[in-house]
This record gives sequence, structure tokens and C-alpha cells, in this order.
Amino acid sequence: MKVRGRDVDPAGDHGLSIGRVLGRQLPGALQDVGQDARIGRPDVQDHEDGGGQLSREGLDEAPEGFDPTRGRADHDDVAPEDVLPSGAWNLSGLCARDDRLSVILWAPPMIAPLPFPERSVDNSWWREGVLYQVYVRSFADSNGDGVGDLAGLTARLDHLDWLGVEGIWLSPTMPSPNADWGYDVADYLNVDPELGTLADLDRLIAEAGRRGIRVLLDLVPNHTSDRHAWFLEARAAREAARRDWYVWADPGAGGGPPNDWPSVFDGPAWTFDTATGQYYLHQFLAEQPDLNWWNDEVRNAFDQILRFWFDRGIAGFRIDVAHSIVKDPELRTLDTHPGVHDVMRRWRRLADSADPQRILLGETHVRAVEAMAAFYGTGEDELHLAFNFPFVYADFDARLAAVVAETEALLPKTAWPVWTGSNHDAGRFPTRWCDGDEARTRLALMAILTLRGTPVLYYGDEIGMTEVELTPEQLRDPVGLRRWPDHAGRDPMRTPMQWSSREGAGFTDAGAVPWLPLGDHRACNVGDQHRDPASILSFTRELIALRRRLADLRSGAYEQLDAPPGTWAWRRGDSVVVALNLSEEEALVQGVEGMIAASTSPERRGEELSGALTLDAWAGAVVENASPWRSANRSKSRRSNNAIVTP
Ligand code: GLC
Ligand code: CA
Repeated sequence: MKVRGRDVDPAGDHGLSIGRVLGRQLPGALQDVGQDARIGRPDVQDHEDGGGQLSREGLDEAPEGFDPTRGRADHDDVAPEDVLPSGAWNLSGLCARDDRLSVILWAPPMIAPLPFPERSVDNSWWREGVLYQVYVRSFADSNGDGVGDLAGLTARLDHLDWLGVEGIWLSPTMPSPNADWGYDVADYLNVDPELGTLADLDRLIAEAGRRGIRVLLDLVPNHTSDRHAWFLEARAAREAARRDWYVWADPGAGGGPPNDWPSVFDGPAWTFDTATGQYYLHQFLAEQPDLNWWNDEVRNAFDQILRFWFDRGIAGFRIDVAHSIVKDPELRTLDTHPGVHDVMRRWRRLADSADPQRILLGETHVRAVEAMAAFYGTGEDELHLAFNFPFVYADFDARLAAVVAETEALLPKTAWPVWTGSNHDAGRFPTRWCDGDEARTRLALMAILTLRGTPVLYYGDEIGMTEVELTPEQLRDPVGLRRWPDHAGRDPMRTPMQWSSREGAGFTDAGAVPWLPLGDHRACNVGDQHRDPASILSFTRELIALRRRLADLRSGAYEQLDAPPGTWAWRRGDSVVVALNLSEEEALVQGVEGMIAASTSPERRGEELSGALTLDAWAGAVVENASPWRSANRSKSRRSNNAIVTP
């Protein structure tokens, strides 16, 4: 028997069995809990078509903590989300009284559930599917030590499967002294003990694979930890065999650093090594010495690292600081040394020659779209995917369209864009772009999930999770610790995933202290949103389902349409139009025909449009079967590009 896609053994460790109630559309209800308990049979007669909470006949009184307006109850042993059956009817509460355990079923106002199409099986998964970044330390803690880990993530794969994610990128998993939370790697061929073991990673890859989800690891080639055996050896003596694996330079004039390069994390990018009388380079912390990518042994060592992980079944890498791993040998200041492209081509050959092909997703942290585009090479010989930071850092208004237009214009023909709003460095878009506003958050999700390219969601984006304000004592990120109070650093965007309203947020055990404080998990969590078909979570899933259903949304060409000021509209392929109102004013977008397939207001789904689409402030719609509109307007749009006109 399956609950949320997972096999549940009726006699298994839940101590629960899921059965059909009244033989109808109900997905199930709890029965036979424990030895003596029996089901409280809810009266569903009055609610055939959904709407409202089921009558609680059969229960003597509402269980403590049950809030009929929100339709949920907390129970000591079992939370509803642990046993939530999929489908139209949701189990929203458990009530234990004496020897009885009763269920409360709740049917929200019905929106027919969409069929959820199958995930892709061919090698287009990374172009057409949705990727999802898991910040492992903050995703799910399996052993109550307050730190998320691989086993915790494995136990939550059903959520990602249900959501429709096709690949996950894990923030660093390799052993690290955590000067920069995993981005200071002490061993590239292992798993950090706090996160698990190699066996846990194997299990994660296998369990994800069973669900059709690929796993990408984070590769940190720009620098190692200063505790890595390579660096310990390199700094031991000038003559050390691995001395040249790092970037050393004699002191500059007056004995100071060799040049004026600043560290990204403040202060100089050079630290003096007294024992050997030279400076070593570190673009980030002094605990993160930069590798020398002109050294062939370094290149060979990384070839081995890539192969090691490919052989373990990972689907590819996100590549940290991909834009600047190669330094100018003369130590001249360049944003990107062209030599970096040789390394990208070398890795691309390795990734493409693996079977199945592995993929490379680069952290190309550059300001200009043109510089980012260069990391695709010809479109087929460097990175498969490159993060678009000009998009990430753009303001969330109709000017975003310009960044997208530039990206579409400058990427090589065969290259594929990436759209993302949040990550562990740049912040969460529901805060940065949307100021916590739900309407804007939905609109941003709609853009990210319907542009031509691969969307990368950050854990929590799917529920509109916002950044969390921290006190100075709570900071763990070296950037926040250095810059407080001017800047809180990156901890506010790295707080634990909010799974439920329970103590510990479903992230860690009740009573355990999470490594970073929890946000407002009572107001925003997966469990509650899962039960609510009008939630941000349901909306995100609906958009992902729509991508799977509509080929044009996955792979159709992007063409921007003329639209009133403050709005942004585009066509995907032949049959889909997306229109967003990024303003405070109601907008009328004309020339749109077809059916609303997804809307930021769920009740508009299915609405037929004949020529005009009215959008409330910060509302958006995806329109399918836009063909009558297209055939009537295409030639006109080619000539004058005014297929949609301002009223
Ligand atoms: C990248 C990572 C960031 C890290 C830095 C140094 O920018 O995303 O988190 O601090 O590299 O490794
Ligand atoms: Ca843990």
C-alpha cells in the first residue's frame, strides 16, 4: 500500500494501516492503531464534493490543539503529515481518547487535482526538469544532533519526488573543518562524518535514483582547506613536492602582500607563511588556500576526483567559483583568466564521455551576461549549465525582461539558460525580491518555472520560505561574523527547512537545538501547505506538473511580447503564453486567447480567454492553446512586434 508514493507496511513501524473509508474516493483513513484502538468513523455524507471540514460525529470532543478553521491537530505520536494520503481528501487530525483513535478528514474547497505526468528518462532531464538545491546541514536531521544529514535527506526524498524535482544539488558533503561550512574541503573522496558516510551517500543516490531523481555534488576546485594534506605538505617547505599545487609569491615591496587583491570575505587575499617566507593566495578565507590550476598534477588530481564520484553514480557537479579558478600567472587583475575555459573543456569531455552523460553546472559569479555566456563555450564544449547572477541580482520588476532578453540573445544557439532566485549566498527571493509578499512570491515562481531554461529552486522556495532574522550570538557564517552589524552574512538564508508546525519543525527532534535557529515554522511549513490546494506549495507543484505536460513550456522558444508598462509577457513555442503583472496597478494584456492553465490565483485555472487578460496587481497567468491568437497575430508580430498592445 502506498502513502505519498511510499510503500507503507500496515504492520510496519508506523503502527498504522491505511485503508479505504466508505469505499469512495477517499484516499484512506487510519485504522487499528495499536492493539485496542479502533477507527472513529467520520461522517462524510454531507461533503460529497468537498468543501469544509467533515463533521466530527463519533468524536466526543475535538482533540486538544485542533483548530477547525485551519483543519489540523497535533498529536503526540503521529503528526498528520506523517501519514498524509495523497489525493483530494486530506487527513488533517488525529484524536486519541481512551482506547479510541479517531481521524478527522478535511476536504478543502476542491480544485481537481492535476494528473502528474511522468518525469523524463532521457538525457534532456537537466534541460527540461527542475533542479533543487539542498543545503544539507539545514534540510533534515536524522539523529537529533541539530545538523541536517544525508540520511535525513534520504528520508525526505518523497517530498522532492512528489514536488516533481528531477535533480538535486547538494551543498558540500566532503569532510571539512567548516571554516566556511563545507567550502573548505579536507578530503575530496569522502563524506563529512557530521553528514554521514559514503554508504549513506550511496544509499541516497540509490533511493533518489529509484524515484528518477539525480544527485549532483558540489565540487570546490578553486581552493582546499588549509588542513588538506596537500596544503600541509605544500607549506612544509619551499622544496615540497606539492609546493606548486598552491599559489605562492614572495612579499611585495616593503614586505607586504605581493599585490593588492582583496579577499571576497574582506582583508587581503594573501596570508604570509612565516615558516617558508612566502605569501599564499586565498580568494576567500585564509583557511581556504587557492590551488594553482597551471599545475598539471592539480588538473590530473581533479580528473580522478570527477571520475571517483561519477563511478559512484552521481549525475554531475555544481562547480564552486567556476569563473575564477585560474589565476593570471603575472598576478594581473582580471575578472576571469581565459585559461579557465581550458579547464571547463577538459571537464566537459570527461562528463560527456561518461555513460550516462554527466552534467556540469557552474557557479559563474560574473556581473555581465556576456561573461556568463562565455562559460558555455560553443554551447557544447564547456559548462552544460551556468548560473545567471545578473538575473539573480536584478530587481524584481518588469526590467527583469531585459536580463532575459540579453541572455536569450547572447547565449550560444545550443546553450541552455538557468533561472534561479535563491541560493545559500545570494539570499531567498521571497525576501529579496518579494519582501515576504505572497503574491509576488507566486509571480516569481511562475517566472522561474516558465522561462526557457532550467529552473533551480532552493530548499524552501516551494513554500515561500523567507530569510530569518538572527541575533549576533546566533551567527555561524564567517561573513556575518566579520561584517556584523553592517551585514548579517548568509545565515539568514540557511536556516532549517520548515517541514511542519511541530516543535523542531520536522527538521530535528523536539527539544534538540538546531545548528541555526528555526524561522516561523508555525506560519510557513510543508505539512500545512501540503494539505492546502491553494498554498504556495501546491502552486509550485502545479507549475512543475504543467512543465511536464506542455512540451512548449519545457523546450519551446522564448519570444518576448509587447505588453503594457509594468507587465512582462512572452510566448513559449507555438502554444503557450505567459503574462506577469509586476506592478501595483491592475493591467489589461490584450491579444491573449486560450485557456488559463496556471494562475497565481488558483481559481482562475480553466478560464477561457478571448482576446484580453486582466491581471490584478502582482498576478500572472500561463495560457495554453494560445493558437488562435498566434495565427492571427504572428505575421503582425514579426513585422511590428506589437502582438500585445497597451490598452
Ligand atoms: C562560493 C560558495 C560560497 C563559498 C565560496 C567560497 O561562492 O557558494 O558559499 O563561501 O564559494 O568557497
Ligand atoms: Ca544530524
